[in-house]
Amino acid sequence: MNQQPIGVFDSGYGGLTVLKEIIKKLPQYDYVYLGDNARAPYGTRSFESVYHYTLECVQWLFNKGCPLVILACNTASAKALRTIQQNDLPKIAPGNRVLGVIRPTTEKIGDYTQTKQVGILATAGTVLSESYIIETNKFYPGVTVFQQACPMWVPLVENNEHNSKGADYFIEKDLNALLDQSKNIDTILLACTHYPLLKHKIQQFLPEGISLLSQGEIVADSLEDYLVRHPEIEERCSRQGKLAFFTTDSPADFDAHATIFLGRKTHAKHADMDEVKLTKKNARGFHS
Ligand code: DGL
Repeated sequence: MNQQPIGVFDSGYGGLTVLKEIIKKLPQYDYVYLGDNARAPYGTRSFESVYHYTLECVQWLFNKGCPLVILACNTASAKALRTIQQNDLPKIAPGNRVLGVIRPTTEKIGDYTQTKQVGILATAGTVLSESYIIETNKFYPGVTVFQQACPMWVPLVENNEHNSKGADYFIEKDLNALLDQSKNIDTILLACTHYPLLKHKIQQFLPEGISLLSQGEIVADSLEDYLVRHPEIEERCSRQGKLAFFTTDSPADFDAHATIFLGRKTHAKHADMDEVKLTKKNARGFHS
């Protein structure tokens, strides 16, 4: 049996906050992380762009041999996952699987709220997709979801400005815009994998009695459960506890930033998306 690493993808560094929790929970597996830093942020891009970039990155991870890819990015999960699962996967790699972060989170979110009113802080792309409203409604029809887009938060984090005074301004503004929508919100989900880096700052502006939720642990628990329920995928995942990091931009920049997200050093390599474009041209039936 050819065993290969699990792929973890994000537009940039944010997915490392999810990978960190996955490694804690499931340290026995090997992981390949791909950050599309050259094209981040995704949050303000069109559906078409996010879909095309995400599909290229998924294909790149499949070319590396990954039997399973986790989209550790809410924006990609909201805008690209369904089309990739339904249209592309059957053509490019029918035996492989791609999972996102929205479904595992919405499966659990109703358990955290007493008032049945939940706030979502996310990128503009995730908010516009209404994925959190639609998915939460499936699992918890009695829970109302309020959303607020925070378009400046990812750039603040990607540019290492998340501890600055500038960050305070945007955090207070967007948090208030969410809380102004209802007085009864008791749970706020950080529905962007970059936002855990802003958690301590958000806490400063958060009224008492409201809890703040990051999704890393929820996604890690859900992956553990998935692997138990899908032995046909689990037995294709290699188990030596190895980590490899790739970025579509500069590996030196990636290594300089990644530690604050992951809590350990990385030695990233460059990922060339032109390799995927070649595969795409050659592959019959590749959705273009
Ligand atoms: N980290 C991604 C998310 O969870 C988005 C970041 C971006 O805008 O690229 O939505």
